[in-house]
Amino acid sequence: MSSSPSDDMSAFTSALKSSKRTIAVAGAGLSAASGVPTFRGAGGLWRKYDAIKLATPEAFRASPSRVWQFYHYRREKALAAQPNPGHLALAKFSVPSIRETVVLGASFTLITQNVDGLSRRALTQIAETHPELADEVSSSAVQNSMLEMHGRLFDVVCTSARCGHREFNLHSPVCPALAGTENVFARDEPEPHIDEKDLPRCKNCGSLARPGVVWFGEMPWFLDEIDGLVDHADLCIVVGTSSTVYPAAGYAHAVKMNGGNVAVFNLDRSDGDGDADFLFLGPAETTLPKALGL
Ligand code: OAD
Repeated sequence: MSSSPSDDMSAFTSALKSSKRTIAVAGAGLSAASGVPTFRGAGGLWRKYDAIKLATPEAFRASPSRVWQFYHYRREKALAAQPNPGHLALAKFSVPSIRETVVLGASFTLITQNVDGLSRRALTQIAETHPELADEVSSSAVQNSMLEMHGRLFDVVCTSARCGHREFNLHSPVCPALAGTENVFARDEPEPHIDEKDLPRCKNCGSLARPGVVWFGEMPWFLDEIDGLVDHADLCIVVGTSSTVYPAAGYAHAVKMNGGNVAVFNLDRSDGDGDADFLFLGPAETTLPKALGL
């Protein structure tokens, strides 16, 4: 661990202003203030189950009913949530004409492990509140500068390898049988069982569908693109992640090894601190807007 990372906001601002290729790596802590539970720590238990153990193909094979109820619960949480000032600060920084008020001629990419769609909704909010920026926000350059590497909660994907149909689906509930199961909390309450035929089905071929997220043991999205960005980044902002899940957990270290700076924003100390030049302990929804000058 580097001896003592700095918590000097003005020194960070100088580093930000002199960086040409900045990346941010975000995790569940970014959405915590919006009411979306994290995976580890206080938010890590769903009913009596460890949330991490449910995010696997094995858990889905063993009980598609249980795993769908878990993701239905997370969908409902995300649908009820609003982007917080942390999402909004990163989204603003993604828009070149806003970013240029802070730093000229620099690129920025947000790599998020979050599947809740709140970072993208923050972009939409910016377009709504600043209609003069709507074209810029909807441009592919801005939309593609937000990489949801662990997939998307609101994608529903066919489990049949022959079909693989994927749809974006914001329905609440995602299918009638899941309605109300998000309210079953007590450890000793009987777990509702939903028959496979009543779980979400593929619109194309009728097979069982699954949440369009990346599970443990599956390949995250955009890996080649992200590797290229990490190789060339001169500043890595790490936000609200325990930095325990690879490959995302390794990006800050790679930037550091290439001579770049690392700035960590987290409520607590985390595994990501080891490479931090800057460490801002506290809620990212407060520290990040300040640090980005937005
Ligand atoms: P974790 O739940 O592991 O970590 C959340 C981090 O956010 C912790 O380090 C908290 O201290 C921090 N935190 C909480 N509230 C915060 C706040 N308001 N401001 C700043 N920091 C805060 O979540 P991730 O690191 O995102 O993957 O987990 C990584 C991956 O593991 C997830 O994408 C998911 C999970 O299992 C898959 O499902 C494949």
